[in-house]
Amino acid sequence: MKRNPVALYSYLVVLSLCAIALVTWLVMDQPLTGQDLIPLVCFLVFVIGVEFFDIKTLSGGYFVPSSTIYLAVIALFGPSFAAILHALVLVIGDGLIKRRPLIKTVFNLAALSIVTGVAGLVFHRMPFSNDLSSPLYLIPALVAHIVFSSLSMVLASIVIGLSEGVNVRTIWKNNYGWHFLSSIVAAPLSAFLIFSYSYAGLWSLLLFAMPLYSIWRSHKLFEDMKEAHKNTVAALTTALEADEPYTHGHSYRVARYAITLGQELGMSAKELESLEYAGLLHDIGKIAITNDIVCKPARLTKEEFDILAAHPAIGGEIVSEMRFLDDAASLVRHHHERPDGQGYPDGLKGDEISLGSHILNLCDAVDAMTSNRPYRAALSVDQCVAEVLRFRGTQFDTRVVDTFERMVGDGSFVIIEHADGSAQQIQRVLREAAGGFGVLRGTAA
Ligand SMILES: [Fe+2]
Ligand SMILES: [Fe+2]
Repeated sequence: MKRNPVALYSYLVVLSLCAIALVTWLVMDQPLTGQDLIPLVCFLVFVIGVEFFDIKTLSGGYFVPSSTIYLAVIALFGPSFAAILHALVLVIGDGLIKRRPLIKTVFNLAALSIVTGVAGLVFHRMPFSNDLSSPLYLIPALVAHIVFSSLSMVLASIVIGLSEGVNVRTIWKNNYGWHFLSSIVAAPLSAFLIFSYSYAGLWSLLLFAMPLYSIWRSHKLFEDMKEAHKNTVAALTTALEADEPYTHGHSYRVARYAITLGQELGMSAKELESLEYAGLLHDIGKIAITNDIVCKPARLTKEEFDILAAHPAIGGEIVSEMRFLDDAASLVRHHHERPDGQGYPDGLKGDEISLGSHILNLCDAVDAMTSNRPYRAALSVDQCVAEVLRFRGTQFDTRVVDTFERMVGDGSFVIIEHADGSAQQIQRVLREAAGGFGVLRGTAA
């Protein structure tokens, strides 16, 4: 799918017109009065404050707990108040404070005004929405939350798909999936705000800030922990490659390539995370093999190759020892399996091999072909693609080869000819740190 600016701008225009029509209709149906002014200003300040607790997730999305407040505002003040509040938050928060690009602010303004308005209409048209004293009240609250989350994710998936030239279903699967259901836990939190506001008025916003902070804090700790895992694994593999000039950044590049192909082939965010770890660690089993084989500046003999061929099984064992890498272990073990059954260590065939292992197998070979070796120069991109096609269906999986060929052709798979800045920087730091102690000397590549 190619980028389509005309479709993107048409989508934004249609969305903006729909937002203007919906908000106008809501305000005419339920006009705001002078009594609404103070609550509007207080909620505006509160939500903008909450918006500063954005956390970027590793999959690129944002965790914003403010949706719980909008649903409470819908119940307390109605959809027109909520839609206007959301529009003001975006104009002030996104446009003036965060100074996000105009096109993003316009999209958010239009899309989220629609989302808030529609969720409000759904909530108020459902039974029990006015009965705060009954647990049945949670039914319209839950439905409104699901409408709010799923509609905002659908509209965002479409705009990302159009602006990046990626299939909308792929965007949905990679970034959101069933995550919209997680908003269900926000429904009781909204109810808590509604109860406390109904009883105590505006000062309840301060009370509500405490559970909101706890949720934000635990989410941030989880994201920080995931990032620390990833950085540790990246530093480990870079350290292992630091002594071998011909494989500098190899694992890092394989991981990058694998993610590119995995996204295009529709893998989920969780599968992509395992694939990235497996790409970084796929050759870690070489640590158990002597340097005179791993770093031999010539082609290996049959006996040497047999010793080296143990590295996927050893690597799989090492990786399986780390619980957070459970899913990556089998990808590491099978990264040298081939569709024709001639691979190792288990001689698996065709569909017995997972998609992730097929992807790693191709990315590993692509990086090896396009890197210099002591006994041959790097192949050009065209030569590399020709080699991959020559072994389509035998050494490499047909789906993966076809996707690779298409993406190289349209420029969406860029072959990194040398380790890029991030990998080189990590290597430089590690080398400097090891300089006086010889820590990295003799490490397997
Ligand atoms: Fe390998
Ligand atoms: Fe490799």
